[in-house]
Amino acid sequence: MNETQATPKNIVLVGFMGSGKTTVGRELHQRLGYPLVDMDQVIEERAGKSIPAIFEESGEAGFREMETSLLREITNHAGSERRIISTGGGIVGSEENRTLLKQLGYVVWLSAPIKVILERTGKNRNRPLLHTDDPAAKIQLLMDQRNPLYEQVAHLKLDTSGLDFSELATGILECARYFFTSRA
Ligand code: S3P
Repeated sequence: MNETQATPKNIVLVGFMGSGKTTVGRELHQRLGYPLVDMDQVIEERAGKSIPAIFEESGEAGFREMETSLLREITNHAGSERRIISTGGGIVGSEENRTLLKQLGYVVWLSAPIKVILERTGKNRNRPLLHTDDPAAKIQLLMDQRNPLYEQVAHLKLDTSGLDFSELATGILECARYFFTSRA
């Protein structure tokens, strides 16, 4: 698809675990009334198991297949309805996924410093990639790999550590409106 011709008017949130995608997604959903698609949640509902259980039984590779297959499905229906799409932190790892994300709409990269990510992710055990003796080192490693990939797909980058989530949502909406208007 030619991105400049017909970008669907979805808002897509990408970023590291604990960067605030779910919270910002809910805020945008409340403001706009567009359906919120939380990809991790859909994957868990369809599989009938938690993400840690999926990793345990099918490995990370199994989880990634489910993630890409859901992303293909969402992209195939992208023109019909405006949505807020909250993705999992590792979605940018595959080239196919990056191509699909760019076709989906306005892509916002939510970021935060490692210290903040550690605080936020330390609160629950739902992230199998951080079940390690040294989560800080793992976060650093994954961030080094992923930051250039988030950069590739994103139209906007926002640090979520300074502003509250309502202010962030306001900023995203203003930028997204400008983006879609300039392409209409
Ligand atoms: C992952 C992030 C998680 C979830 C899975 C893998 C990752 O989503 O998709 O545990 O590779 O960074 P959140 O970013 O919503 O925590």
